[in-house]
Amino acid sequence: MAEIGKDIAKARVHLTKGHLVAIPTETVYGLAANAYNPDAVANIFVVKNRPSFDPLIVHISKLEDLEILALNIPEKAIILANTLWPGPLTLLLDKRNIISDLVTAGMDKVAIRLPSHPIANELLNSLDFPLVAPSANPFGYISPTTANHVDDQLGEKIPYILDGGECNVGIESTIVGFEDNETVIYRLGGVSKEKIEELVGLVKVKKHSTSNPKAPGMLRSHYAPSKKIILGNLNDLLREWGGHKIGVLSFKETLLADAEIKQIVLAPDGKVETAAKLLFSSLRQLDQEDVEVILAEEVPNYGLGRAINDRLRRAAAPKETENEI
Ligand code: TXA
Ligand code: MG
Repeated sequence: MAEIGKDIAKARVHLTKGHLVAIPTETVYGLAANAYNPDAVANIFVVKNRPSFDPLIVHISKLEDLEILALNIPEKAIILANTLWPGPLTLLLDKRNIISDLVTAGMDKVAIRLPSHPIANELLNSLDFPLVAPSANPFGYISPTTANHVDDQLGEKIPYILDGGECNVGIESTIVGFEDNETVIYRLGGVSKEKIEELVGLVKVKKHSTSNPKAPGMLRSHYAPSKKIILGNLNDLLREWGGHKIGVLSFKETLLADAEIKQIVLAPDGKVETAAKLLFSSLRQLDQEDVEVILAEEVPNYGLGRAINDRLRRAAAPKETENEI
């Protein structure tokens, strides 16, 4: 098992030596490595069992670092960065040569984000290189939102997990790029579509593609627990699955008095932010219960609700062997 601790200096030493360290961010835990060390970057793909065509997000410590890594930065990107960083926004921009093809999977764009978790910021500030950090889960599985989640799945493979408590946002960053004059969301996430539109006008949300698994951030069967998950009207599903061992994930209502049934209510307060924060840990919990199937419902489709529904739909999508471990 990995050592779990709050020692930023220790994390810094490991990263400087080219080791991998799991780090907290406000969205989910990341599996971090020195972005300028090709061996360390390559090791991320091995440890996660991640296909090399799936590029990595580069995490920076301050706004000025953007210019070091990217060029041709559109005005709208500057507006978003100035307003939403530090925070759960990733910008997809033309890369400079300092970023290797390994990081971007050969693409000429690099994904960059400045996270807002105080421990991540302190760590990044103490380093003289940026960190690549995908979510710290085996490829295709649910992202971790606590140090223990990371330890359960990757603990054997990494030396250190920097513990920053439970992630506040709970779902990954929103990935935004620019095509011609359009602002495009490639992955819904911790900053809402509404917030981005308020700042830079209408945006297009790209649908994930199954025909082109190389379209980054867009694999349909992703974020999946190992149990079968079925999305729909919970009352209908409960009738249909009567007599089976089921787990239930609902938005705000408690549906059943039956104590035999494992049920998690994501947000008794009815807030999509609360649901986002608990989504992955709840899926994990139900996945570990003695149930045959997890029945779930979509949440209201606004704000972070869009990102939650996106994750639920992907978790419920039939597994495509190509995308799964
Ligand atoms: O909130 C987050 O973004 C977390 C935390 C740890 O920062 N990170 C994260 O990384 O979710 P990951 O690797 O699990 O998801 C990043 C997504 C991938 O689906 C990848 O395909 C896409 O971003 N991506 C990364 N670099 C890209 C690039 N150059 N072009 C297109 N898509 C890119
Ligand atoms: Mg991920």
